[in-house]
Amino acid sequence: MIEPATPPVSAVRTRLDGRTALVTGSTSGIGHAVADLLAERGAHVIVSGRDPGRGHAAVTGIQARGGHADFLAADLTTDTGTADLAERALGVTGRIDVLVNNAGVFTFGPTADTTAAGFDAVYDLNVKAPYFLVQALVPAMAERGSGAVVNILTGAAHRGSVAAGLYGSSKAALLLLTQSWAAEFGPSGVRVNAVSPGPVRTEGTGYGAGLDAVAAALPARRLGEPAEVAAAVAFLAADEAAYVHGAVLPVDGGATAA
Ligand SMILES: NC(=O)c1ccc[n+]([C@@H]2O[C@H](COP(=O)([O-])OP(=O)(O)OC[C@H]3O[C@@H](n4cnc5c(N)ncnc54)[C@H](OP(=O)(O)O)[C@@H]3O)[C@@H](O)[C@H]2O)c1
Repeated sequence: MIEPATPPVSAVRTRLDGRTALVTGSTSGIGHAVADLLAERGAHVIVSGRDPGRGHAAVTGIQARGGHADFLAADLTTDTGTADLAERALGVTGRIDVLVNNAGVFTFGPTADTTAAGFDAVYDLNVKAPYFLVQALVPAMAERGSGAVVNILTGAAHRGSVAAGLYGSSKAALLLLTQSWAAEFGPSGVRVNAVSPGPVRTEGTGYGAGLDAVAAALPARRLGEPAEVAAAVAFLAADEAAYVHGAVLPVDGGATAA
């Protein structure tokens, strides 16, 4: 049998060769899996988070598999954190083609117990940081006429619940921003979409049994894997999703459905 000279179009359109991707919160959990997969698909990945030990370990893992990655330490809740990260990220290859707003904090509890500082900590990381990273990085994508932003939401963004008002509302704001940015930047060739994960065991969620109880009620009857969320992010970041703008892709074991 004669082998085709070029790979099928569908395979090429999943690749990210020649593109630079900034993945916030990629020292851990879902973001780490996203960084691994985008690098596997050919992107030069900028791993980011506060912890240099975990950051360098993530980069070493990608490089050991033949991928390209750098680590940039950043605390996205400080006054200058997002602007500083954006500037240093642009310095790595001279451009950012894919921005994954994954870094997030999940704080649960009654409204009566929420302090102003606790409120700010959630909104600073979950809403303000993505907002100002988009402000700093997307206009250059729009000038080039191409780029992709993927925001990481949560099931708590789509419905009210007793203890997740603060966290869920911050991600609901990011959902609305996803749609607004799709409208604002889509005509310039920049696609903005979101992935909404269900329960996924990570360093951040810890290892308690609570998550298993949530998973047991889902149609999938199990927790999700970080790599399963990453697969959806990689799809939305690549040309395969060229006609997908402003969408929210649930990767939640069916939580949205039932
Ligand atoms: N796991 C789930 O079940 C689940 C479900 C739905 C949605 N999500 C969403 O998915 C995203 C990732 O969750 P995860 O479970 O993978 O969390 P995780 O394991 O706690 O990872 C969070 C990441 O964010 C970074 N980060 C935290 N605070 C930061 C700050 N101030 N500045 C910069 N980076 C910071 C952490 O890096 P450093 O510690 O190095 O700073 C880490 O890389 C979050 O947006 C979360 O809301 C998770």
